[in-house]
Formats: sequence, C-alpha cells, structure tokens
Amino acid sequence: MAAKMFRICVLLILISPALAVLCNPADKKNLLQFKQDLNNPYMLVSWNPDTDCCYWNAVKCDQKTHRVISLTILYSGPFTNFSFQIPPSIANLSSLRTLILHKLPNLAGHLPPAIANLTSLSYLTISWTNVSGPVPDFLSQLKNLQFLDLSFNNLTGSIPSSLSQLPNLISLRLDRNKLTGPIPDSFGSFNSSPSLFLSHNQLSGTIPASLANQDPMRIELQMNKLEGDAYMLFGANKTTQMVDLSRNLMAFDISKVEFPTSLISLDLNHNMIYGKLPEGLKAVDFLQMFNVSYNRMCGEIPQGGRLQRFDVSSFFHNKCLCGSPLPDCK
Ligand SMILES: *[C@@H]1O[C@H](CO)[C@@H](O)[C@H](O)[C@H]1NC(C)=O
Ligand SMILES: *[C@@H]1O[C@H](CO)[C@@H](O)[C@H](O)[C@H]1NC(C)=O
Ligand SMILES: *[C@@H]1O[C@H](CO)[C@@H](O)[C@H](O)[C@H]1NC(C)=O
Ligand SMILES: *[C@@H]1O[C@H](CO)[C@@H](O)[C@H](O)[C@H]1NC(C)=O
Ligand SMILES: *[C@@H]1O[C@H](CO)[C@@H](O)[C@H](O)[C@H]1NC(C)=O
Ligand SMILES: *[C@@H]1O[C@H](CO)[C@@H](O)[C@H](O)[C@H]1NC(C)=O
Ligand SMILES: *[C@@H]1O[C@H](CO)[C@@H](O)[C@H](O)[C@H]1NC(C)=O
Repeated sequence: MAAKMFRICVLLILISPALAVLCNPADKKNLLQFKQDLNNPYMLVSWNPDTDCCYWNAVKCDQKTHRVISLTILYSGPFTNFSFQIPPSIANLSSLRTLILHKLPNLAGHLPPAIANLTSLSYLTISWTNVSGPVPDFLSQLKNLQFLDLSFNNLTGSIPSSLSQLPNLISLRLDRNKLTGPIPDSFGSFNSSPSLFLSHNQLSGTIPASLANQDPMRIELQMNKLEGDAYMLFGANKTTQMVDLSRNLMAFDISKVEFPTSLISLDLNHNMIYGKLPEGLKAVDFLQMFNVSYNRMCGEIPQGGRLQRFDVSSFFHNKCLCGSPLPDCK
C-alpha cells in the first residue's frame, strides 16, 4: 500500500511541471493582439485571457522556457467569413519555430515584412490561401528555415534568387502559384540541396546549369514553360529519387543522359525530348514510376531491365520508340 502511494506521489511530481506550464506573459499578450487583429475569429474562442495560453487551440509552448514556439491555424470550420490579412503584430511572436497557416481561403493580401522578424522559424507554411503578391526577398533572412511551403496560393512575380542564402533549407515548395520568369541561377549554390517543388506555375527559360552542383532528393518542375536541356538534374554522382519535368517545353537528346541509379520516379511526359532511351536505365533498380510519353524519342526501348514493367502508356505518343512494351522494332 505504502509502495503504491509512493509511486503515485512520484508520478504526480513527475507530471506536475507539465501542469504548471505558465505561458510567457509577453507571448500571451501578443497572441491576444493577433486574435484581436483578426477580428476575434470563432476558431480562436479558446484564446481566453484568463487561461494559460499554452493550452490554447493552435498554440504550443516550449516545455522548459514556456515560450510560444508553434502556431498552427488550419481550416476547421468557419474561421472568418470576411477577408483578412496576416497582421503586422505577428512580428512580436518572436519565439515561433513553427508557423502554419493552411487552407484559409479568406486569408488575402501580401506576405507582410513582419514575417522577417520571426528569425527562429524553422518551419513556415502558408498554403491553400488567397495570399497574392510576390514571394518576398526578406524570407532569405530567416536563416533557420528548414521547410518553406508557400504552395497553392496566388503568388505572382519571379522567384527571388536570395532564397539560396537559406543555409539549412531541406524543402522549398512554391508550387501551384502564378510565378513567372526563370529558376534563379543562384539555386545552384544552396548549401543543403533542398528538394524543389516549383510545379504548376508559369516558369520559363532554361533550367540553370548550376543545378549540376545540387543533389536534391526530389525535384518537381511539371506544368511550367521550361525549355532546353535537363542534363544538370541527372548524373551518376547524384542520389536524387524523384524528377518530374512533365508538361514543359524541354527539348534535349535523352541518349546522352546518365540517370542516377537512385531514381524511383521519373516523369518526362509532354515535352519535345528526342533520341534513344539510354541502356543505363536498365541499372535503375528501384524505378517505380516511369513516363516518357508524348515526346519525340526514337529507337528500341532498352530490353531486359525494369522498363518492361511499365505499360504502353509510359511510352506511347513518341516519334518512333519500339520494342516491348510497344510493338517490335521493324
Ligand atoms: C458573418 O458571420 C456573422 C456571424 O456568424 C454573421 O452575423 C454575418 O451575417 C456574416 N456575414 C456575411 C457577409 O456572411
Ligand atoms: C510589439 O510589442 C511591442 C511591445 O509590447 C509593442 O509596442 C508593439 O506595438 C508591438 N508591435 C506590433 C506590430 O504589434
Ligand atoms: C522587426 O524588425 C524590424 C527590422 O529589423 C525592426 O525595426 C522592428 O522593430 C521589428 N519588430 C518587432 C515587432 O520586433
Ligand atoms: C481572392 O482574392 C481575389 C482578389 O485578389 C478575390 O477576387 C477573390 O474573391 C478572393 N477569393 C477568396 C476565396 O476570398
Ligand atoms: C487569385 O486571384 C484571382 C484574381 O486576382 C482570383 O480570381 C482567384 O480566385 C484567386 N485564386 C484563389 C485560389 O483564390
Ligand atoms: C557531379 O559531377 C559534375 C561533373 O563532374 C559536377 O559538375 C557536379 O558538381 C557534381 N554534382 C554533385 C552533386 O556532386
Ligand atoms: C503517362 O502520361 C500520359 C500523359 O499524361 C498519361 O496518359 C499516361 O496514363 C501516363 N502513364 C503512366 C503509366 O503514368
């Protein structure tokens, strides 16, 4: 009995620091300001000044410092029925490491410079909103960023070359906006070879040769207006797993490309790529997705590797590709 009581006491002592979490007063004040700037949306009804802000909906605190480190606002029912912007008061939430604003169709306006004050951010997502205007240059000041996701918005203008100054970036998502202009040359100088998701924009020009220096895990450039060669995305010295260049204006001789054996998914459909598929593709052992349809390729599909696992639709609508799974070469 005594032993049991003792164990219960120990348990209480162990969990009590968690119960005692006290929201940092300045953070609390700043959150309440943020709420007021958004016109007190129903979703933030739990943000009651009389309660500990570390228990508020969408908020997370650091267990030791009690600073607010995460704010995650996802669409969950009626957030607001009026259009709103990211308030400048967000600048004061300086201890945030994670900021997620996701699926908020009424979130409009530009990305405010106040975001540049959040220098502790390692995870920034503003996606599926109606935010418009440019991808701001000031994002390059957020040196701790590892994940930057601005996908599914209404952003316009070109991609700022300064983003390559983010030394710790693991993933850059700017897909599904209305971005124009080229992929910056500077993207060859990322320290950390982030995965690049730039698909479904109106990017044009050639892919910069400097990307030969990068070894991203994934690169998605589909549904743009990119042209020219793509050799710099490939090469035996890379460990890239996924490349999607489909629905662009790429035109190059595929027979010259050395594909990394790490590839799992390669989609090149709807371009103007020509030449014969290289025999080297037989050595790409883990290929699970492959599509070179709607190009101008010719010659026999390499036989005896993995390519015969894919059906006709991976190869059809080329100039004169032949051999299994397409009809025999004459
Ligand atoms: C917005 O919501 C409030 C409260 O639910 C409601 O009274 C108001 O009529 C709504 N306004 C519009 C424009 O739908
Ligand atoms: C940030 O906090 C300071 C000090 O509380 C305050 O004076 C300032 O107005 C706040 N800034 C914004 C943009 O809310
Ligand atoms: C945000 O950064 C700017 C420029 O560094 C500075 O002037 C301003 O005081 C900062 N605002 C807050 C709320 O920290
Ligand atoms: C998005 O913003 C545009 C203007 O920039 C506006 O016409 C449209 O209604 C907004 N969409 C939503 C869902 O708020
Ligand atoms: C983007 O903006 C245009 C007009 O500026 C608007 O018609 C469109 O609905 C917006 N897109 C989204 C996803 O809200
Ligand atoms: C791969 O090799 C090419 C040519 O030797 C070189 O330019 C490039 O920097 C290398 N890429 C990586 C990611 O090491
Ligand atoms: C390849 O892409 C074409 C064009 O989008 C599509 O019709 C076909 O189904 C795709 N095949 C595979 C196996 O992905």
